[in-house]
Amino acid sequence: MPIDNLVLLMLALGCGLCLTARADASDALRDLAARHHLLIGPAVGKHLWTTDPVYAAVLAREFNILTAENDMKWAAIHPERDRFNWNASDPYVAFAEAHGMRVRGHTLCWHAPFNPAWLEESGFARDALIGVLSNHIATVVGRYRGRVAMWDVVNEAVADEAPHGLRPTIWSRTIGPEYLDLAFRAAHAADPGATLVYNDYGGEAEGGKADAIHALVAGMLERGVPVHAVGFQMHILDIDAESLARNLARFAQLGVAIHITELDVRLPLPADAAALARQADVYRKVLNVCLREPACRVVQTWGFTDAYSWIPKFFPGHGAALPFDAEYQPKPAWAAMLEALATAEVVPRGGVHD
Ligand code: XIL
Repeated sequence: MPIDNLVLLMLALGCGLCLTARADASDALRDLAARHHLLIGPAVGKHLWTTDPVYAAVLAREFNILTAENDMKWAAIHPERDRFNWNASDPYVAFAEAHGMRVRGHTLCWHAPFNPAWLEESGFARDALIGVLSNHIATVVGRYRGRVAMWDVVNEAVADEAPHGLRPTIWSRTIGPEYLDLAFRAAHAADPGATLVYNDYGGEAEGGKADAIHALVAGMLERGVPVHAVGFQMHILDIDAESLARNLARFAQLGVAIHITELDVRLPLPADAAALARQADVYRKVLNVCLREPACRVVQTWGFTDAYSWIPKFFPGHGAALPFDAEYQPKPAWAAMLEALATAEVVPRGGVHD
């Protein structure tokens, strides 16, 4: 059976799980999302499309954007001070271009333990570190100028603990708070057409961390820093939809786009049918809030199949967080996303790149 038909069959079987069958199971998410001028897609790791044909078929058919889960991070793309490793990153861009998909570049500025040792342990003085950061951004963004549509320029800069100041990192300690402005300006210089994103977690619903992210982004905008969108990661268990909607609306009032960048809804294992149904409701709520918010332009999940997800390793005892199960059977969460896209009213939404 051709792979496309196999995928259709799987979707059709999965629709036995749909609460209401208003979405046609043969619709691809990307086609339904296009009606809303919305980009939808997953993080993809380890060049998986080259080793897993069903993975490749679902990825190409269903999605119009992808993120490299790890292969554009410093440790992969810049493993030594004087060496960039494009073998890690280029294949994602090539796959996306071959299938009419956009790419989110992730990420230009993050912290330990995710940075390579050469960066964390070299003891760079302030000016040298500014040079290293500027060179990294100019080189990586410059290589993909016009080809990577958006970049998570700074990732997770805000501390979890109140009063949610800047997280102590090599950047904030050595350069000071100006590192954010500097990173965004360097990215803009390297590709003036790219959408530049501040990306963080835990600021989805209203609260102290959301306030701090809002203040951080508002400050950058006041200083004329080219920040165009805020990424809300959304590694969640549940969400208060009303609070999420109010929070996204106040970010939209700043004039930035809203990107949901890393959605997954983890469940304690083993997950029974009731848990999967509750999970579907969470996916539905997130999609519906985004679809009603004109500034919300992108919805991305952190993977799409439970066969490959960071959750079991990082949240032991949890898993089953994604819309496809490990055998590529669509879960109720998948049907909920399809249905939300098929039934939501189309609101005027600007282009993804403005
Ligand atoms: C995670 C990856 O999924 C893992 O494979 C890796 O070991 C660590 O990073 N927030 C982010 C992502 O911005 O880059 C993280 O990805 C998940 C949390």
